[in-house]
Amino acid sequence: MSFAKRSVPFLSLGGMFEADDAAAAARVMQAATEPGGSFFPMPEEAEFQTALAAHEGAAHAVAFNSCGTALDACMMVLGIGPQDEVITTPLTFVCTATCAAARGARVVFADIAPTTLCLDPAAVRKKISPRTKAILPVHFAGCPADIDGFDAIGRQTGIPVIYDAAHAVGTRYRGRPIGAAGTASCYSFQSNKNITTLGEGGAVTSEDADFAEAVRRKKTFGYVYGGPRLRVVDLGFNYRMTKPQLAVGLTQIAKARRIIALKLAAMIRLRQLLADVEELVLPAGIEDGHGAHLFVVRLDTDKVRFTRDAFQEHLKRQYQVGTAVHYPCVWTWEVFQGLDYDNSDCPIAERAGTEVLSLPVFAQSSEEDLQYAAWAIKQSIQQLTVRSQ
Ligand SMILES: Cc1ncc(COP(=O)(O)O)c(C=O)c1O
Repeated sequence: MSFAKRSVPFLSLGGMFEADDAAAAARVMQAATEPGGSFFPMPEEAEFQTALAAHEGAAHAVAFNSCGTALDACMMVLGIGPQDEVITTPLTFVCTATCAAARGARVVFADIAPTTLCLDPAAVRKKISPRTKAILPVHFAGCPADIDGFDAIGRQTGIPVIYDAAHAVGTRYRGRPIGAAGTASCYSFQSNKNITTLGEGGAVTSEDADFAEAVRRKKTFGYVYGGPRLRVVDLGFNYRMTKPQLAVGLTQIAKARRIIALKLAAMIRLRQLLADVEELVLPAGIEDGHGAHLFVVRLDTDKVRFTRDAFQEHLKRQYQVGTAVHYPCVWTWEVFQGLDYDNSDCPIAERAGTEVLSLPVFAQSSEEDLQYAAWAIKQSIQQLTVRSQ
């Protein structure tokens, strides 16, 4: 089979961000143009937090202006500082590690599980020391992390577990949403996530009312509202989401399940189309609670003589198929170099960091897009194989 050349971008918000979302933001902005109009107060904040908590199965949700600031607030509430160690996965966006490093802590990397590419509780156990102050697993690509494994560690050691749930709106673990897991979970609503609040946004969910209140103070200058007078009881910042974003958050949450179902169907179809490509390791278990954020394959470097980067470049240049790398291992970024990381005990992550490639799947992926992408992938592997012989 051959295809006429077309272009498949890595990302398209069509079908995810729609006219009702734009109208929700416009309504709030229009109201601000009226006499006496303002972007405060924000009743949308409580409404959005209630809707998000319900969607993610948590008792409490606190809206933030990003997942990065949500993670930072959690680090501050836990009192993470220079004497501490925080254990996380090397295969993540840099900010899962920098949130701890920026507070002066040493980031300790533990290896990932080969099938889920999520932090492996067994590997984490080997890295726990008297200085360990927190564990930060990531629900990588939307795949649920091993919450039972981390619960057991939390129970036995008392170490708080903060989940980086940036990829995990709608992810389920053993049939339930993941927002109640651990001490807290930090979500992202940045532009390419499962839902978006006008390009940036985030939230913390927690079962613990005191923890939720503590992070809320961190995002609002340490204010306590509601008493006879305004009080400032903590050191905090302004990490608040804006009113138009909160309004859009409500329309986005209402459609999250539909968006995820569409993305999941596209992922299952693409996996079927690629099933015979032995050079690729395809994601397993995506029918089972996966939040369908990213479709991450691995180019099995034992089976080819070209690199993932060459493959990515070829797909883009020859076939206009957009892909992305989630992620190079965190220790490869300049900011972590010179910090004396011994990568030898994270061999699975080390290898995955050079093999992972996220393929284009979005809510409006058409059958033609998926067929074309699968064909282009097969053609590229064939051509690069010939070229590398
Ligand atoms: C795993 C992970 N954690 C944290 C973040 C940071 O999210 P935000 O951009 O909302 O700060 C991202 C963003 O891509 C991410 O992928």
